[in-house]
Amino acid sequence: MDKLLIDGGVPLYGTVSISGAKNAALPLLAATLLAPGEHVLHNVPDLRDTRTMLKLLEILGVQWERSGKTVRINADNLTGVEAPYDLVKTMRASVLVLGPLLARLGSARVSLPGGCAIGARPINYHLKGFEKLGVTTNLEQGYVEAIANGRMQGATVYFDVPSVTGTENVLMASVVAEGETVIENAAREPEVGNLVDMLVAMGANIEGKDTDRLVVQGVSELHATESKIIPDRIETGTYMIAVAATGGSVTITDCDPSHLLALTEKLLLCGVNIEETEDSITVSCPEIDGRSLCRLRSIDITTLPYPGFPTDLQAQFMALMVQGDGTSIIHETIFENRFMHVAELKRLGADIAIEGSRAIIRGIGRDTLCGAPVMATDLRASASLVIAGLSALGRTEVSRIYHLERGYEEMAEKLRALGARVEIVRE
Ligand code: EPZ
Repeated sequence: MDKLLIDGGVPLYGTVSISGAKNAALPLLAATLLAPGEHVLHNVPDLRDTRTMLKLLEILGVQWERSGKTVRINADNLTGVEAPYDLVKTMRASVLVLGPLLARLGSARVSLPGGCAIGARPINYHLKGFEKLGVTTNLEQGYVEAIANGRMQGATVYFDVPSVTGTENVLMASVVAEGETVIENAAREPEVGNLVDMLVAMGANIEGKDTDRLVVQGVSELHATESKIIPDRIETGTYMIAVAATGGSVTITDCDPSHLLALTEKLLLCGVNIEETEDSITVSCPEIDGRSLCRLRSIDITTLPYPGFPTDLQAQFMALMVQGDGTSIIHETIFENRFMHVAELKRLGADIAIEGSRAIIRGIGRDTLCGAPVMATDLRASASLVIAGLSALGRTEVSRIYHLERGYEEMAEKLRALGARVEIVRE
Protein backbone atom coordinates (compact mmCIF):
# COMPACT_ATOMS: atom_id res chain seq x y z
CA MET A 1 0.00 0.00 0.00
CA ASP A 2 1.38 3.40 -0.95
CA LYS A 3 1.81 5.78 1.96
CA LEU A 4 2.20 9.49 2.48
CA LEU A 5 4.77 10.34 5.16
CA ILE A 6 4.24 13.71 6.86
CA ASP A 7 6.53 15.44 9.37
CA GLY A 8 4.09 18.02 10.68
CA GLY A 9 4.20 21.24 12.67
CA VAL A 10 5.47 23.34 9.76
CA PRO A 11 3.53 26.45 8.65
CA LEU A 12 2.77 26.64 4.90
CA TYR A 13 4.02 29.59 2.83
CA GLY A 14 3.96 30.27 -0.92
CA THR A 15 1.66 29.86 -3.92
CA VAL A 16 -0.34 26.88 -5.15
CA SER A 17 -2.20 26.54 -8.47
CA ILE A 18 -5.58 24.78 -8.54
CA SER A 19 -6.37 22.05 -11.08
CA GLY A 20 -9.57 21.52 -13.04
CA ALA A 21 -12.54 20.21 -11.04
CA LYS A 22 -12.82 16.40 -10.81
CA ASN A 23 -16.59 16.67 -10.40
CA ALA A 24 -16.91 18.76 -13.55
CA ALA A 25 -14.44 16.76 -15.63
CA LEU A 26 -16.38 13.51 -15.04
CA PRO A 27 -19.78 14.67 -16.40
CA LEU A 28 -18.17 16.70 -19.21
CA LEU A 29 -16.13 13.70 -20.33
CA ALA A 30 -19.33 11.61 -20.32
CA ALA A 31 -21.14 14.31 -22.34
CA THR A 32 -18.76 13.77 -25.27
CA LEU A 33 -20.73 10.55 -25.95
CA LEU A 34 -23.66 12.74 -27.02
CA ALA A 35 -22.21 13.86 -30.35
CA PRO A 36 -19.83 12.62 -33.07
CA GLY A 37 -16.82 14.67 -34.08
CA GLU A 38 -13.80 15.87 -32.15
CA HIS A 39 -14.47 17.36 -28.70
CA VAL A 40 -11.71 19.40 -27.05
CA LEU A 41 -11.70 19.68 -23.25
CA HIS A 42 -9.24 22.06 -21.58
CA ASN A 43 -8.03 22.04 -17.95
CA VAL A 44 -8.82 18.35 -17.44
CA PRO A 45 -7.10 17.17 -14.24
CA ASP A 46 -4.99 14.01 -14.53
CA LEU A 47 -6.47 11.95 -11.69
CA ARG A 48 -7.25 8.31 -10.94
CA ASP A 49 -10.94 9.09 -11.52
CA THR A 50 -10.53 10.94 -14.84
CA ARG A 51 -8.29 8.11 -16.06
CA THR A 52 -11.04 5.66 -15.08
CA MET A 53 -13.66 7.67 -16.99
CA LEU A 54 -11.41 7.82 -20.09
CA LYS A 55 -10.96 4.03 -19.86
CA LEU A 56 -14.75 3.63 -19.74
CA LEU A 57 -15.21 5.90 -22.79
CA GLU A 58 -12.60 3.81 -24.61
CA ILE A 59 -14.57 0.63 -23.84
CA LEU A 60 -17.60 2.33 -25.41
CA GLY A 61 -15.65 3.05 -28.60
CA VAL A 62 -14.34 6.55 -27.99
CA GLN A 63 -10.82 7.55 -29.05
CA TRP A 64 -8.93 10.13 -27.04
CA GLU A 65 -5.52 11.67 -26.53
CA ARG A 66 -4.17 13.95 -23.83
CA SER A 67 -1.63 16.70 -24.35
CA GLY A 68 -0.95 18.46 -21.06
CA LYS A 69 -4.22 19.65 -19.56
CA THR A 70 -6.11 19.31 -22.87
CA VAL A 71 -7.91 16.10 -23.90
CA ARG A 72 -9.16 15.58 -27.45
CA ILE A 73 -11.99 13.08 -27.76
CA ASN A 74 -13.53 11.53 -30.87
CA ALA A 75 -16.91 9.89 -30.33
CA ASP A 76 -17.71 9.16 -33.99
CA ASN A 77 -18.15 5.42 -33.65
CA LEU A 78 -19.58 4.11 -30.40
CA THR A 79 -19.23 0.35 -30.29
CA GLY A 80 -20.91 -0.56 -27.04
CA VAL A 81 -23.46 0.53 -24.43
CA GLU A 82 -22.18 -1.35 -21.41
CA ALA A 83 -20.28 0.02 -18.40
CA PRO A 84 -18.81 -3.10 -16.75
CA TYR A 85 -18.94 -3.84 -13.01
CA ASP A 86 -15.17 -4.12 -12.51
CA LEU A 87 -14.87 -0.53 -13.66
CA VAL A 88 -18.04 0.97 -12.14
CA LYS A 89 -17.21 -0.51 -8.70
CA THR A 90 -14.04 1.63 -8.64
CA MET A 91 -15.87 4.83 -9.53
CA ARG A 92 -19.61 5.33 -9.08
CA ALA A 93 -19.59 8.38 -11.34
CA SER A 94 -19.41 5.87 -14.21
CA VAL A 95 -23.23 5.96 -14.00
CA LEU A 96 -22.95 9.32 -15.79
CA VAL A 97 -22.71 7.48 -19.13
CA LEU A 98 -26.35 6.34 -18.79
CA GLY A 99 -27.90 9.64 -19.91
CA PRO A 100 -25.65 10.26 -22.94
CA LEU A 101 -25.91 6.63 -24.12
CA LEU A 102 -29.72 6.79 -23.94
CA ALA A 103 -29.65 10.06 -25.88
CA ARG A 104 -27.21 8.90 -28.56
CA LEU A 105 -28.03 5.18 -28.94
CA GLY A 106 -31.34 4.71 -27.15
CA SER A 107 -30.06 2.12 -24.70
CA ALA A 108 -27.50 1.56 -21.95
CA ARG A 109 -26.40 -1.24 -19.63
CA VAL A 110 -24.55 0.00 -16.59
CA SER A 111 -23.55 -1.93 -13.49
CA LEU A 112 -25.21 -0.65 -10.34
CA PRO A 113 -22.39 1.24 -8.59
CA GLY A 114 -22.92 -0.38 -5.21
CA GLY A 115 -22.23 1.49 -2.02
CA CYS A 116 -19.02 3.13 -0.95
CA ALA A 117 -17.43 4.19 2.33
CA ILE A 118 -19.63 7.25 2.77
CA GLY A 119 -23.01 5.71 2.12
CA ALA A 120 -25.36 3.47 0.14
CA ARG A 121 -25.28 5.93 -2.78
CA PRO A 122 -28.37 4.61 -4.65
CA ILE A 123 -29.31 5.93 -8.10
CA ASN A 124 -33.10 5.67 -7.79
CA TYR A 125 -33.59 9.38 -8.61
CA HIS A 126 -31.55 8.95 -11.81
CA LEU A 127 -33.71 6.00 -12.91
CA LYS A 128 -36.99 7.71 -11.93
CA GLY A 129 -35.96 10.68 -14.08
CA PHE A 130 -35.20 8.51 -17.10
CA GLU A 131 -38.54 6.70 -16.69
CA LYS A 132 -40.33 10.08 -16.76
CA LEU A 133 -38.70 10.62 -20.18
CA GLY A 134 -40.21 7.35 -21.44
CA VAL A 135 -37.26 5.05 -20.72
CA THR A 136 -37.87 1.55 -19.36
CA THR A 137 -35.33 0.43 -16.79
CA ASN A 138 -34.88 -2.90 -15.09
CA LEU A 139 -32.33 -4.47 -12.85
CA GLU A 140 -30.71 -7.69 -14.03
CA GLN A 141 -27.78 -9.42 -12.32
CA GLY A 142 -26.59 -6.17 -10.75
CA TYR A 143 -26.85 -4.24 -14.01
CA VAL A 144 -29.30 -1.48 -14.90
CA GLU A 145 -30.78 -2.09 -18.35
CA ALA A 146 -32.22 1.17 -19.72
CA ILE A 147 -34.04 1.33 -23.04
CA ALA A 148 -35.65 4.37 -24.67
CA ASN A 149 -38.57 3.08 -26.75
CA GLY A 150 -38.06 5.43 -29.71
CA ARG A 151 -37.21 9.09 -29.08
CA MET A 152 -37.49 10.12 -25.43
CA GLN A 153 -40.40 12.44 -24.60
CA GLY A 154 -39.82 15.63 -22.60
CA ALA A 155 -41.44 15.70 -19.14
CA THR A 156 -41.25 17.35 -15.73
CA VAL A 157 -38.73 15.58 -13.51
CA TYR A 158 -38.81 16.40 -9.79
CA PHE A 159 -35.86 15.43 -7.56
CA ASP A 160 -36.75 14.73 -3.90
CA VAL A 161 -33.11 15.57 -3.16
CA PRO A 162 -31.12 17.90 -5.47
CA SER A 163 -28.88 15.04 -6.65
CA VAL A 164 -25.76 16.37 -8.44
CA THR A 165 -25.08 13.46 -10.79
CA GLY A 166 -28.82 12.73 -10.94
CA THR A 167 -29.39 16.24 -12.34
CA GLU A 168 -26.45 15.84 -14.74
CA ASN A 169 -27.59 12.40 -15.96
CA VAL A 170 -31.21 13.37 -16.61
CA LEU A 171 -30.10 16.67 -18.19
CA MET A 172 -27.85 14.82 -20.66
CA ALA A 173 -30.72 12.51 -21.62
CA SER A 174 -33.25 15.35 -21.98
CA VAL A 175 -31.32 17.58 -24.42
CA VAL A 176 -32.42 15.52 -27.46
CA ALA A 177 -35.81 14.39 -26.11
CA GLU A 178 -38.96 15.49 -27.98
CA GLY A 179 -40.38 18.71 -26.55
CA GLU A 180 -39.81 20.41 -23.20
CA THR A 181 -38.24 18.90 -20.09
CA VAL A 182 -38.33 20.71 -16.75
CA ILE A 183 -36.01 19.54 -13.96
CA GLU A 184 -37.40 20.76 -10.63
CA ASN A 185 -35.23 20.89 -7.50
CA ALA A 186 -32.17 20.53 -9.71
CA ALA A 187 -28.69 20.63 -8.16
CA ARG A 188 -27.08 24.10 -8.44
CA GLU A 189 -23.44 23.09 -7.98
CA PRO A 190 -21.03 25.01 -10.27
CA GLU A 191 -20.08 21.70 -11.89
CA VAL A 192 -23.69 21.37 -13.15
CA GLY A 193 -23.36 24.88 -14.63
CA ASN A 194 -20.11 23.84 -16.35
CA LEU A 195 -22.03 20.95 -17.96
CA VAL A 196 -24.90 23.26 -19.00
CA ASP A 197 -22.39 25.56 -20.73
CA MET A 198 -20.85 22.63 -22.62
CA LEU A 199 -24.24 21.22 -23.69
CA VAL A 200 -25.42 24.66 -24.91
CA ALA A 201 -22.18 25.03 -26.86
CA MET A 202 -22.99 21.64 -28.42
CA GLY A 203 -26.34 23.01 -29.61
CA ALA A 204 -28.63 22.19 -26.68
CA ASN A 205 -31.36 24.61 -25.54
CA ILE A 206 -31.22 24.95 -21.73
CA GLU A 207 -32.51 27.77 -19.52
CA GLY A 208 -32.02 28.19 -15.76
CA LYS A 209 -28.28 27.58 -15.35
CA ASP A 210 -27.20 27.79 -11.67
CA THR A 211 -30.84 27.70 -10.50
CA ASP A 212 -32.88 24.81 -9.06
CA ARG A 213 -35.12 24.76 -12.16
CA LEU A 214 -33.68 23.76 -15.53
CA VAL A 215 -35.91 24.09 -18.62
CA VAL A 216 -34.78 22.16 -21.70
CA GLN A 217 -36.21 22.36 -25.22
CA GLY A 218 -35.17 19.13 -26.98
CA VAL A 219 -33.18 19.50 -30.22
CA SER A 220 -32.70 16.93 -32.95
CA GLU A 221 -28.93 16.84 -32.98
CA LEU A 222 -25.81 18.03 -31.21
CA HIS A 223 -22.25 18.68 -32.42
CA ALA A 224 -18.79 18.39 -30.88
CA THR A 225 -17.37 21.49 -29.23
CA GLU A 226 -14.46 22.95 -27.24
CA SER A 227 -14.95 23.43 -23.48
CA LYS A 228 -12.95 24.27 -20.36
CA ILE A 229 -13.25 22.56 -16.97
CA ILE A 230 -13.84 25.02 -14.09
CA PRO A 231 -11.36 25.19 -11.19
CA ASP A 232 -11.78 22.57 -8.45
CA ARG A 233 -13.53 24.35 -5.57
CA ILE A 234 -13.01 21.38 -3.23
CA GLU A 235 -9.27 21.26 -3.93
CA THR A 236 -9.23 25.04 -3.34
CA GLY A 237 -11.08 24.67 -0.05
CA THR A 238 -8.79 21.86 1.04
CA TYR A 239 -5.71 24.10 0.69
CA MET A 240 -7.50 27.01 2.39
CA ILE A 241 -8.22 24.81 5.40
CA ALA A 242 -4.69 23.37 5.37
CA VAL A 243 -3.15 26.85 5.80
CA ALA A 244 -5.61 27.73 8.55
CA ALA A 245 -4.59 24.50 10.28
CA THR A 246 -0.82 24.80 9.99
CA GLY A 247 -0.45 28.59 10.11
CA GLY A 248 1.49 30.57 7.51
CA SER A 249 0.28 32.40 4.41
CA VAL A 250 -0.55 30.90 1.02
CA THR A 251 -1.90 32.40 -2.20
CA ILE A 252 -4.14 29.94 -4.07
CA THR A 253 -4.25 30.77 -7.79
CA ASP A 254 -6.30 29.67 -10.82
CA CYS A 255 -9.35 29.28 -8.58
CA ASP A 256 -12.85 30.83 -8.43
CA PRO A 257 -13.45 32.47 -5.01
CA SER A 258 -17.16 32.93 -5.81
CA HIS A 259 -17.59 29.14 -5.50
CA LEU A 260 -16.36 29.13 -1.89
CA LEU A 261 -18.51 31.70 -0.12
CA ALA A 262 -19.72 29.26 2.55
CA LEU A 263 -16.20 28.12 3.53
CA THR A 264 -14.73 31.63 3.38
CA GLU A 265 -17.43 32.87 5.75
CA LYS A 266 -16.65 30.11 8.24
CA LEU A 267 -12.87 30.60 8.11
CA LEU A 268 -13.28 34.34 8.76
CA LEU A 269 -15.42 33.46 11.81
CA CYS A 270 -12.58 31.20 13.02
CA GLY A 271 -10.21 34.20 12.97
CA VAL A 272 -8.33 33.46 9.73
CA ASN A 273 -7.39 36.30 7.32
CA ILE A 274 -8.62 35.98 3.71
CA GLU A 275 -7.97 38.26 0.72
CA GLU A 276 -9.45 37.61 -2.71
CA THR A 277 -8.97 38.66 -6.31
CA GLU A 278 -11.06 37.43 -9.24
CA ASP A 279 -9.06 34.20 -9.57
CA SER A 280 -7.01 33.89 -6.37
CA ILE A 281 -7.45 33.59 -2.60
CA THR A 282 -4.75 34.41 -0.04
CA VAL A 283 -5.24 32.71 3.32
CA SER A 284 -3.08 33.70 6.29
CA CYS A 285 -3.03 33.39 10.04
CA PRO A 286 -2.35 36.54 12.05
CA GLU A 287 0.95 36.49 13.92
CA ILE A 288 0.60 35.84 17.65
CA ASP A 289 3.74 35.89 19.83
CA GLY A 290 5.82 35.88 16.65
CA ARG A 291 4.14 32.75 15.34
CA SER A 292 1.67 32.61 12.49
CA LEU A 293 -0.51 30.10 14.29
CA CYS A 294 -3.66 32.01 15.04
CA ARG A 295 -6.00 31.02 17.82
CA LEU A 296 -8.91 29.24 16.17
CA ARG A 297 -12.41 30.00 17.33
CA SER A 298 -14.52 26.81 17.41
CA ILE A 299 -17.65 27.17 15.26
CA ASP A 300 -20.50 24.92 14.07
CA ILE A 301 -21.19 23.87 10.47
CA THR A 302 -24.04 22.06 8.73
CA THR A 303 -23.43 20.54 5.30
CA LEU A 304 -26.03 21.45 2.66
CA PRO A 305 -26.48 21.35 -1.12
CA TYR A 306 -24.76 24.23 -2.95
CA PRO A 307 -24.46 27.09 -2.11
CA GLY A 308 -24.48 25.72 1.46
CA PHE A 309 -21.37 24.38 3.17
CA PRO A 310 -20.16 21.51 0.93
CA THR A 311 -20.19 17.98 2.31
CA ASP A 312 -16.93 17.43 0.39
CA LEU A 313 -15.17 19.89 2.76
CA GLN A 314 -16.69 18.54 5.98
CA ALA A 315 -13.88 16.12 6.84
CA GLN A 316 -11.21 18.72 6.12
CA PHE A 317 -12.96 21.34 8.27
CA MET A 318 -13.19 18.83 11.11
CA ALA A 319 -9.39 18.46 11.05
CA LEU A 320 -9.30 22.22 11.66
CA MET A 321 -11.92 22.32 14.40
CA VAL A 322 -10.02 19.63 16.27
CA GLN A 323 -7.56 22.45 17.08
CA GLY A 324 -10.24 24.97 18.04
CA ASP A 325 -10.57 26.81 21.36
CA GLY A 326 -13.92 25.29 22.33
CA THR A 327 -16.66 22.91 21.16
CA SER A 328 -17.71 22.65 17.51
CA ILE A 329 -20.70 20.72 16.19
CA ILE A 330 -20.55 19.40 12.63
CA HIS A 331 -23.89 18.27 11.22
CA GLU A 332 -23.59 16.09 8.09
CA THR A 333 -26.94 16.15 6.28
CA ILE A 334 -26.00 14.80 2.84
CA PHE A 335 -24.47 11.36 3.43
CA GLU A 336 -25.37 8.87 6.12
CA ASN A 337 -21.88 7.62 6.84
CA ARG A 338 -19.41 10.39 6.23
CA PHE A 339 -17.55 10.30 9.55
CA MET A 340 -15.05 7.54 8.69
CA HIS A 341 -12.22 10.03 9.33
CA VAL A 342 -13.25 10.53 12.99
CA ALA A 343 -11.66 7.32 14.32
CA GLU A 344 -8.43 8.11 12.47
CA LEU A 345 -8.34 11.74 13.71
CA LYS A 346 -8.73 10.41 17.26
CA ARG A 347 -5.53 8.39 16.75
CA LEU A 348 -3.77 11.74 16.36
CA GLY A 349 -5.20 12.95 19.67
CA ALA A 350 -8.49 14.53 18.57
CA ASP A 351 -11.43 14.58 21.00
CA ILE A 352 -14.57 13.84 18.96
CA ALA A 353 -17.88 12.15 19.78
CA ILE A 354 -20.47 11.10 17.18
CA GLU A 355 -24.18 11.35 17.87
CA GLY A 356 -26.15 10.25 14.78
CA SER A 357 -25.50 12.71 11.99
CA ARG A 358 -23.64 15.09 14.29
CA ALA A 359 -20.00 15.08 15.38
CA ILE A 360 -19.18 16.98 18.58
CA ILE A 361 -15.58 18.18 18.45
CA ARG A 362 -13.98 19.36 21.67
CA GLY A 363 -11.14 21.56 20.46
CA ILE A 364 -7.80 20.79 22.10
CA GLY A 365 -6.08 23.97 20.84
CA ARG A 366 -2.93 24.39 18.82
CA ASP A 367 0.30 22.31 18.95
CA THR A 368 -1.55 19.39 20.52
CA LEU A 369 -2.00 16.75 17.81
CA CYS A 370 0.67 14.01 17.76
CA GLY A 371 1.66 12.18 14.59
CA ALA A 372 0.70 8.50 14.21
CA PRO A 373 0.01 5.92 11.48
CA VAL A 374 -3.53 6.41 10.08
CA MET A 375 -5.55 4.88 7.24
CA ALA A 376 -7.45 6.68 4.49
CA THR A 377 -10.97 5.34 3.93
CA ASP A 378 -12.34 7.63 1.22
CA LEU A 379 -11.24 10.59 -0.86
CA ARG A 380 -12.09 13.50 1.43
CA ALA A 381 -11.33 11.61 4.64
CA SER A 382 -7.79 11.14 3.32
CA ALA A 383 -7.53 14.90 2.75
CA SER A 384 -8.65 15.42 6.34
CA LEU A 385 -5.90 13.12 7.62
CA VAL A 386 -3.29 14.97 5.54
CA ILE A 387 -4.39 18.29 7.06
CA ALA A 388 -4.26 16.83 10.57
CA GLY A 389 -0.85 15.29 9.84
CA LEU A 390 0.49 18.63 8.60
CA SER A 391 -0.64 20.17 11.91
CA ALA A 392 0.52 17.34 14.18
CA LEU A 393 3.90 17.31 15.91
CA GLY A 394 6.04 14.42 14.71
CA ARG A 395 5.43 11.93 11.92
CA THR A 396 2.09 10.84 10.48
CA GLU A 397 1.88 8.00 7.97
CA VAL A 398 -1.28 8.03 5.84
CA SER A 399 -1.80 4.63 4.19
CA ARG A 400 -4.10 3.71 1.25
CA ILE A 401 -3.40 7.04 -0.44
CA TYR A 402 -4.92 5.77 -3.68
CA HIS A 403 -8.06 7.34 -2.21
CA LEU A 404 -6.28 10.70 -2.21
CA GLU A 405 -5.01 10.29 -5.76
CA ARG A 406 -8.59 9.88 -7.03
CA GLY A 407 -9.27 13.58 -6.54
CA TYR A 408 -6.10 15.58 -5.86
CA GLU A 409 -3.60 16.21 -8.65
CA GLU A 410 0.04 16.12 -7.45
CA MET A 411 -0.87 16.89 -3.87
CA ALA A 412 2.51 15.87 -2.42
CA GLU A 413 4.36 18.07 -4.94
CA LYS A 414 2.03 21.01 -4.31
CA LEU A 415 2.42 20.68 -0.52
CA ARG A 416 6.23 20.36 -0.74
CA ALA A 417 6.31 23.58 -2.78
CA LEU A 418 4.58 25.22 0.20
CA GLY A 419 7.27 24.01 2.59
CA ALA A 420 5.51 20.92 3.90
CA ARG A 421 7.72 17.95 4.77
CA VAL A 422 5.83 15.22 2.89
CA GLU A 423 6.97 12.22 0.90
CA ILE A 424 5.17 9.42 -0.92
CA VAL A 425 6.47 5.88 -0.28
CA ARG A 426 5.41 3.49 -3.05
CA GLU A 427 5.06 -0.08 -1.73
C1 EPZ B 1 -21.78 14.22 -6.14
O1 EPZ B 1 -22.09 12.89 -5.81
C2 EPZ B 1 -20.27 14.35 -6.02
N1 EPZ B 1 -19.63 13.45 -6.99
C3 EPZ B 1 -19.84 14.00 -4.59
O2 EPZ B 1 -18.44 14.20 -4.50
C4 EPZ B 1 -20.55 14.96 -3.64
O3 EPZ B 1 -20.22 14.60 -2.30
C5 EPZ B 1 -22.07 14.87 -3.83
O4 EPZ B 1 -22.39 15.13 -5.22
C6 EPZ B 1 -22.82 15.88 -2.97
O5 EPZ B 1 -22.37 17.17 -3.25
C7 EPZ B 1 -19.58 13.82 -8.29
O6 EPZ B 1 -20.06 14.88 -8.67
C8 EPZ B 1 -18.90 12.86 -9.23
P1 EPZ B 1 -25.90 13.22 -4.80
P2 EPZ B 1 -23.57 12.31 -6.10
O7 EPZ B 1 -26.61 12.42 -5.82
O8 EPZ B 1 -24.14 12.98 -7.28
C9 EPZ B 1 -28.76 10.50 -2.18
C10 EPZ B 1 -16.24 13.64 -3.94
O9 EPZ B 1 -15.69 13.51 -2.84
N2 EPZ B 1 -29.22 9.97 -3.47
O10 EPZ B 1 -26.00 14.71 -4.85
O11 EPZ B 1 -23.48 10.84 -6.07
C11 EPZ B 1 -27.29 10.18 -1.93
O12 EPZ B 1 -27.16 8.89 -1.36
C12 EPZ B 1 -17.61 13.07 -4.18
O13 EPZ B 1 -15.74 14.29 -4.90
C13 EPZ B 1 -30.24 9.01 -3.49
O14 EPZ B 1 -30.74 8.61 -2.44
O15 EPZ B 1 -24.35 12.83 -4.81
C14 EPZ B 1 -26.88 11.28 -0.98
O16 EPZ B 1 -27.28 10.93 0.33
C15 EPZ B 1 -18.09 12.27 -2.99
N3 EPZ B 1 -30.67 8.54 -4.69
C16 EPZ B 1 -27.70 12.48 -1.48
O17 EPZ B 1 -28.79 11.93 -2.24
C17 EPZ B 1 -30.14 8.97 -5.89
O18 EPZ B 1 -30.59 8.52 -6.96
C18 EPZ B 1 -26.93 13.44 -2.39
O19 EPZ B 1 -26.31 12.65 -3.36
C19 EPZ B 1 -29.09 9.93 -5.84
C20 EPZ B 1 -28.66 10.42 -4.63
